Amino acid sequence: MRVVMLGAPGSGKGTQGEQLAAALGVPHVSSGEVLRGHGGPEVQAKMLAGELVDDALMETVMWTRLAEPDARGGLVFDGFPRDAEQATALDRHLMRTGERIAATVLLDAPRDELVGRLLARAEVQGRLDDNPATIARRLDVYETETAPLVTYYEGRGVLRRVDGSGDVAAVYARMMAALNHV
Ligand code: AP5
Repeated sequence: MRVVMLGAPGSGKGTQGEQLAAALGVPHVSSGEVLRGHGGPEVQAKMLAGELVDDALMETVMWTRLAEPDARGGLVFDGFPRDAEQATALDRHLMRTGERIAATVLLDAPRDELVGRLLARAEVQGRLDDNPATIARRLDVYETETAPLVTYYEGRGVLRRVDGSGDVAAVYARMMAALNHV
């Protein structure tokens, strides 16, 4: 099963996506993690500024990951696709390989709760893009570039809206209930 996790920075795509992947027995693929591990200086600069990295680069990275044997039976996408170009490219790619997105989980939480989570993580993990200016930019980029994908996936009948506020266990329970008949 292939599931896309959609939501603003701090909405819990990573936290919930990891648990979902474990429950489904498929890999959890975080585009941000891949970039933090392998991106060159230009990529790191974009991430630090809260801007999206180049679509073509991102797609090459993702197609390479999708071709790995562990992803053949499905996976949970976290952070990809992130704009209209990536979403249509993913559909084209999956059509070629005879696969499809079974569900897109939209995690929805208020902006002040998202900012609070990211600032709390900054104190513990020190992720470089978890500073107030970059967090604000990441949230704005989400609104302009990524939020339109809600309509895109709704139109395909695969969108599952989940209230992403509150504690991790409560969000997980809501997500699994929303995916019950997928
Ligand atoms: P990425 O790493 O994907 O960051 P993000 O989208 O900003 O997402 P986060 O990881 O901050 O949040 P999340 O929603 O995953 O929440 P999480 O579970 O981690 O991308 C980073 C950068 O890479 C982008 O800005 C861009 O530059 C580049 N990039 C990545 N993909 C790209 C693409 N496809 N195209 C172009 N560029 C791309 O939770 C956050 C925190 O909150 C954690 O500390 C967690 O423990 C905590 N938390 C989670 N849920 C709860 C809860 N319910 N209650 C309390 N705390 C919670």
